[in-house]
Amino acid sequence: MIRDVLADDLDSVTEIERESFKKPWSKADFETEITRKRSVFKLLEEEGEICGYFVIYTVLDESELADIAVAPKHRGKGYGKLLLAEAVRSARRASVMFLEAAVDNTSAVGLYESFGFEKVGYIKDYYGQGCDAYIMKLDINNEVRNVEKQY
Ligand SMILES: CC(C)(COP(=O)(O)OP(=O)(O)OC[C@H]1O[C@@H](n2cnc3c(N)ncnc32)[C@H](O)[C@@H]1OP(=O)(O)O)[C@@H](O)C(=O)NCCC(=O)NCCS
Repeated sequence: MIRDVLADDLDSVTEIERESFKKPWSKADFETEITRKRSVFKLLEEEGEICGYFVIYTVLDESELADIAVAPKHRGKGYGKLLLAEAVRSARRASVMFLEAAVDNTSAVGLYESFGFEKVGYIKDYYGQGCDAYIMKLDINNEVRNVEKQY
């Protein structure tokens, strides 16, 4: 089940974030996202266990996938796909979604490409020295139709 994140969920979310990123968001960062108007912050729960989450920002016509992660023990089961499908659905009033991904993050880049995201930019040292990023872009109007068909 995918649902909105509540304050009580933030310890689990923050734990997954720490397991997933070298420079993780803090609990306080996530707290802000619960109430921020531009944000959609949702999690995927299975049998009462929080398995992953995403945060998107939508401003006018553009949406940004700001954060997405699945707990290490639950990766490779399709939860990333379900979360990304919901993120795209949640951004349907925008026409494009952007994100940044580390160039060596093959599982994330593979996931995004399987949804139709295209590499449209490259930022050197975006995540610190020697850690470059792709900027990726999705045309939401096309993709929402595909997502509706598949998920
Ligand atoms: C990226 C992430 C969210 C994917 O979640 P997941 O639940 O493991 O992904 P799924 O099982 O839904 O896999 C979806 C698709 O991703 C791609 N993928 C997943 N793991 C992959 C891997 N190890 N190598 C290449 N592609 C991979 C595939 O296209 C896969 O589709 P397929 O199974 O039909 O081939 C997860 O690996 C994660 O949390 N990573 C750490 C945090 C992170 O890097 N977030 C993204 C920041 S930009």
